[in-house]
Amino acid sequence: MPLVSAREAAVLLRSGELVGIPTETVYGLAANGLDPAAIRQVYARKGRPADHPLILHVLDDPDEYAIMDDRAWALVAAFWPGPLTLVLPRRASVPPELTGGHRTVAVRSPDHPVAREVLRLARVPVAAPSANRFGRVSPTTAAHVLAEFPGLPVVDGGPCHVGVESTVLDLSGPEPALLRPGGIPVEALEDQLGPVARVGATPSPGTHESHYAPRAAVVVADDPEAEAARLGAAGYRVARLDTSDTAEVARHLYAWLRAFEDDGVEVIVAGRCPDSGLGRAVNDRLRRAGAGRSLPIRSENGTP
Ligand code: TXA
Ligand code: MG
Repeated sequence: MPLVSAREAAVLLRSGELVGIPTETVYGLAANGLDPAAIRQVYARKGRPADHPLILHVLDDPDEYAIMDDRAWALVAAFWPGPLTLVLPRRASVPPELTGGHRTVAVRSPDHPVAREVLRLARVPVAAPSANRFGRVSPTTAAHVLAEFPGLPVVDGGPCHVGVESTVLDLSGPEPALLRPGGIPVEALEDQLGPVARVGATPSPGTHESHYAPRAAVVVADDPEAEAARLGAAGYRVARLDTSDTAEVARHLYAWLRAFEDDGVEVIVAGRCPDSGLGRAVNDRLRRAGAGRSLPIRSENGTP
């Protein structure tokens, strides 16, 4: 495996190359966030539409890139480093390629020692979407990244401990708006800010339906045991995804989805987590993993 050290990764980033890096949420496909050519390569390798903006990862200097206000500073003090991304008006130092032409920029300071080491050594902010091809399941280990991008230099920081992406909060308008539920519970943000609208005024491009999708169909059911039994009896290769421990599901969700698809599972049947805290992020990812995939057709007697 083309594994590299944090120091090698920093050198590669500074010379315009892409590198897979671990964060506490998922692995990122990292590029020098101030280098338009490197950013364009990120879009090309992911197969991501050019108008889907990227997150700029910083050590601790968001005000160089984003126009901060009191709300933003309060959240930074409370939750950074950590899985909270803030969308704010951008400064002129941010290349338009990074923001997909938007006048806002998304900034986050990751809480993973390896990501921080890479940022410290590279001395540039890092643009990093999740290191998966567009629409696919996000990676939470170095091996997942290599499965998506064979030959990509990757820094192995072990399995990600949060396991779902950062919470994306839009602070570019007067009312804070949740664009993507994630690693920081929206309830914790509301303790600081008061009410947070659930849908952004500017819809977040990465949050369209049918995302995070494995090749298997994903069915979210009120009674997953009964649904799994019914589909099994109809002849499908079924796997049950256990949602009883929310933090555990979040941490392993993407690895489980990948393992099931590698095993040739046709239908993954899941329950729901409580719709609060991290459970909201898990339910969101499960719903999107299921969107747009239908079950393979089975005839009456259960044969394909
Ligand atoms: O946890 C994470 O956030 C991971 C790790 C690698 O840091 N990154 C990640 O990046 O999930 P990505 O590109 O897969 O998702 C970024 C999300 C997308 O939904 C995107 O639309 C939104 O952030 N976003 C980025 N910039 C934005 C902007 N200026 N306005 C609105 N949404 C923005
Ligand atoms: Mg992604």
